[in-house]
Amino acid sequence: MAETRIVLQNCEVIDPGDIATYIERDGFKALDKARKMAPEEVISQVKASGLMGRGGAGFPCGVKWELARKAPGNEKFIICNADEGEVGTFKDRYIIEHDPFGLIEGIAIAGYAIGAKRAYIYLRGEYHFLLDLLTGACDQARQKGYLEGLDIDLREGAGSYICGEESALMDSIEGKRPEARYRPPFPPSKGLWEKPTIINNVETLMNIPRIVSNGASWFAEMGTKESTGTKVFSVSGDVQRPGVYELVMGSRLSEVVTELAGAKEVKMVQVGGASGGIVPASMIDTPLSYETVLGSGAITVFNKTRDVIDFVYRTMEFLSEESCGKCAPCREGTEVMVEILERLTKGEGVQEDIGVLEELSNVMMLSSLCGLGQSAPTPVLETLKYFRNDYENRIKQSVFLRALRGIK
Ligand SMILES: Cc1cc2nc3c(=O)[nH]c(=O)nc-3n(C[C@H](O)[C@H](O)[C@H](O)COP(=O)(O)O)c2cc1C
Repeated sequence: MAETRIVLQNCEVIDPGDIATYIERDGFKALDKARKMAPEEVISQVKASGLMGRGGAGFPCGVKWELARKAPGNEKFIICNADEGEVGTFKDRYIIEHDPFGLIEGIAIAGYAIGAKRAYIYLRGEYHFLLDLLTGACDQARQKGYLEGLDIDLREGAGSYICGEESALMDSIEGKRPEARYRPPFPPSKGLWEKPTIINNVETLMNIPRIVSNGASWFAEMGTKESTGTKVFSVSGDVQRPGVYELVMGSRLSEVVTELAGAKEVKMVQVGGASGGIVPASMIDTPLSYETVLGSGAITVFNKTRDVIDFVYRTMEFLSEESCGKCAPCREGTEVMVEILERLTKGEGVQEDIGVLEELSNVMMLSSLCGLGQSAPTPVLETLKYFRNDYENRIKQSVFLRALRGIK
């Protein structure tokens, strides 16, 4: 199984500290080409490519850009979401570390297309070590004249998972405590400081120069009908070769997990981060796309020695800790789930636990304010779907032991 390196084409090839090595490989030619096109034409190319946001939600990129372009007002912003707080996701770090110029070129094209004069790169706080590299890359691009009409400002993340959620991220840039905002209004009409704003993931923006250079149909021909192009995956867990891999959309999960990363004795795989979908070993040939499972592209492999309920308990502990606390369904719901799951792991579960987990999941998905609470129940529901016996057996054991001890 071979990778298809499009987003990663320059990684470990160019010198990330020297813009000349990027220019030698046709760097910034896409920006030159874009600037000769009308901004609307750039947007229609991105729309026609079918590029969907790579940060997890999978929203069509060109549609978002068009909304921001058409939004009234002269002051508009681009934000590159490099917060990468998603559990098991480290692809954006790899991209920035190895090809910062590709990202800057993507941001510059996005700025031109929507009419933004200022861009922010919101860099995960723990990626402080990349700050000098990124600052140096921006300086070099500016000195070479590639950033005419666009200021790029680097902001370090405030260190919590919610900071990657786009509305909380804007609060953080504005100097507020990051919390999810009520929507509508959506960022393309009212975002940062209530101005039209586009927020895109690092990988999404990396695709832009490729689309402008090679054309929308070249891009749209790769992948599946709904999921075009390639996807960069961060693979970790019980594998022999953890790392970052880029494959055409629609590739099978087994190609990444077993063929490339060398996993053995797989029990299940979580795709898309802490609240991502669960794929049991029997479904390892599932294609990876927005139609099936994808999210941020985190792939975490669990082998047969792993305890499913312990995994769900620890995941929920993380989500509960990281809930911003603004809405009750997420704040209280994740907390109650932690209590139940902790009881289950300690062998103190009761018959009603499964039903309560399911009911609570539905409420949280329907009524939470942002993606954190809406998707937090996914690992619970998906493990209940594929590993229900593990839950039932654990509860049966608890009930039996309590009966033996004479406890109700
Ligand atoms: C709790 C939470 C954390 C998120 N973290 C990130 C992140 O670290 N990076 C990212 O690109 N998107 C993250 N997202 C998704 C963003 O809200 C948003 O959809 C994305 O940045 C949009 O860019 P895209 O359309 O290019 O994917 C997160 C969402 C939620 C709910």
